[in-house]
Amino acid sequence: MQLSDESAPIGLFDSGVGGLSVYLHLAKQLPNERYIYYADTKNVPYGARSSDEIVRFTLAAVSWLYEQGCKLIVIACNSASAYALDQARKLYPQLPIVGLVPALKPAVLASKTKHVAVLATQATLTGKLLNQVITEIAQPLETSVTKCFDPQLVPWVEAGMPAQDVTALRLSERLDEFHRLGIDHLVLGCTHYPFFKPILQTQIAQQNLGITVVDSGAAIAARVQQLLAETAPPSYRQLTLLPSDTISSPMLDFYATNYYPGIGDLVQSLISQPVRLLSEQSIAYQ
Ligand code: DGL
Repeated sequence: MQLSDESAPIGLFDSGVGGLSVYLHLAKQLPNERYIYYADTKNVPYGARSSDEIVRFTLAAVSWLYEQGCKLIVIACNSASAYALDQARKLYPQLPIVGLVPALKPAVLASKTKHVAVLATQATLTGKLLNQVITEIAQPLETSVTKCFDPQLVPWVEAGMPAQDVTALRLSERLDEFHRLGIDHLVLGCTHYPFFKPILQTQIAQQNLGITVVDSGAAIAARVQQLLAETAPPSYRQLTLLPSDTISSPMLDFYATNYYPGIGDLVQSLISQPVRLLSEQSIAYQ
């Protein structure tokens, strides 16, 4: 596969702002790229939706990003990847499409207690990608996988993670419970969750809970970098793989299916960089 236009943007898609946690890894790893982000804020959260709905929304997003001329698309949503990755790839066989699966494999391989937890949406927990890793990796290594979800976590992140919310308290109680169960690795199986990883790590350190928190962001950025290196000509490789400390933040264009009040501020606070909010028209005419 050869990239059609090396200067074309990389597309990212999530039900909401969660995929920005993946964008942060990409921006660090590939700072010379242009990025375009599609947040389906009209339909977030996806977690409790039917597989048919998730497929329909995901294919609409992928089609939109494809029409913007993206050279590679990251489905930066575990729930969407669980149900629609195969179909998206079938529809666009010439386009590299990277999907997300919770980082269960590295957690299982590193677990000493042979008990790990996956915190994800209901869709991801029942979807085939995660369950394949359980069957192929966790079971042969006799490692127990405790699946858990809280339907309020995604809305809590979308609301900017207010500290006084009862969701924060429930999260803290969950960590204590994981510790009691002898869980030594917690997999954040939803791209919204790395935004509260520092809160979890602070509690783990303060109470000495001995739990390592893992997510897939860095591995996804490495996979994208590898795909670009494989598909781009050598001149392009030299340009995009410059060390990240030589460059400031890359350009991010952000498109949402619903621009609720405060969304621009939320995005800027999550990624600590200015962002350009796009309407569909501004893309069509730029
Ligand atoms: N960021 C999405 C994921 O990784 C959240 C899904 C949702 O909208 O519930 O699964």
